[in-house]
Amino acid sequence: MAAASSRSASLGLLVAAHCALLLALAGGASAGGVALSSTFYDASCPTAYDVVRRVIQNARVSDPRIPASLIRLHFHDCFVQGCDGSLLLDDDLPTIQTEKNVLANNNSARGFPVVDDIKAALEHACPGIVSCADILALAAEISVELAGGPRWSGLLGRRDGTTTNVESANNLPSPFDSLNVLQEKFRNFNLDDTDLVALQGAHTFGKVQCQFTRENCTAGQREGDLKNLDQVTPDLFDNKYYGNLLEGRAQLPSDEVMLSDPTAAATTAPVVQRFAGNQQDFFRNFAASMIKMGNISPLTGKDGEIRKNCRRVNSRGY
Ligand code: HEM
Ligand SMILES: *[C@@H]1O[C@H](CO)[C@@H](O)[C@H](O)[C@H]1NC(C)=O
Ligand SMILES: *[C@@H]1O[C@H](CO)[C@@H](O)[C@H](O)[C@H]1NC(C)=O
Repeated sequence: MAAASSRSASLGLLVAAHCALLLALAGGASAGGVALSSTFYDASCPTAYDVVRRVIQNARVSDPRIPASLIRLHFHDCFVQGCDGSLLLDDDLPTIQTEKNVLANNNSARGFPVVDDIKAALEHACPGIVSCADILALAAEISVELAGGPRWSGLLGRRDGTTTNVESANNLPSPFDSLNVLQEKFRNFNLDDTDLVALQGAHTFGKVQCQFTRENCTAGQREGDLKNLDQVTPDLFDNKYYGNLLEGRAQLPSDEVMLSDPTAAATTAPVVQRFAGNQQDFFRNFAASMIKMGNISPLTGKDGEIRKNCRRVNSRGY
């Protein structure tokens, strides 16, 4: 209960935008079943938020990059057959082919042991209650807050899928995609230009391997060498990312195209300008876009399952 009330107290100025969005999304989601809800675990696992937060706090003592790595997992989960925890499944052939080895994830997506630690702590606190898909959503929200970004009350109640989709994972946004292609990949999930610009703002923290940068390791590094995505405030969740873009210091080609593509001036560039000039505006939009992204095709009600081990479907044992 303490967790729930401290969260509602923190909502502050986000509350109005959030409620409007919640109503809109609830209407849409009810067609397929039960809508997600910000109070989903209040009765069944009131400590869920605090448990997830404590594990992430501990993990980032030895690995300050963990918050960035965790929010990226939620993105790569939601963009592949919805926010169903499919990204977390390990190979279990022939039934399950893991998504972890596709180009966007191999030697790149990280933080899986921390997800395991969160799951273990939650199974101890409230066995069989909190899904792996919701762990990623909660971890994303908490990671942004711990790095100094906006707080919002995420929607919960997702259940875990029992399949992966490697073909779809191979189609995750690439750093070398053109603006058109990025826009299309986001529009497929009802995410518009403002969502695209806001969500890429997550590149305000975390790291990138030099072969994905515009520099392409030409400053003498070897493939795999890491650079900060935000060279001004590398571990802080703020709006400096947009200032970097405007100064020509975007790390990824996919960051840069939001300004330099011939069609950007009429679409994404004005949003970059806006967020560079107003952090509160960025924070509000980022929270709203994260809620939209977290609402991509969730399994709810009796669909899916609550995995006991995030790496395996329950029928395969754990
Ligand atoms: C527009 C499409 C996007 C593309 C093409 C893209 C691409 C990338 C690439 C290439 C990396 C570096 C990976 C590596 O070097 O191993 C990266 C890192 C990262 N991305 Fe994105 N990204 C996109 C959108 C997003 C979104 C929507 C989020 C979250 C809301 C996000 C959050 C992050 C974070 C936090 C990192 C650093 C992770 C770490 O340090 O472990 N990205 N992204
Ligand atoms: C993933 O990375 C490993 C280690 O670098 C490499 O051996 C393997 O071929 C890669 N897998 C795929 C599917 O590209
Ligand atoms: C980066 O440089 C390597 C080595 O010169 C090259 O093989 C690769 O194609 C380059 N990558 C891009 C995206 O241009």
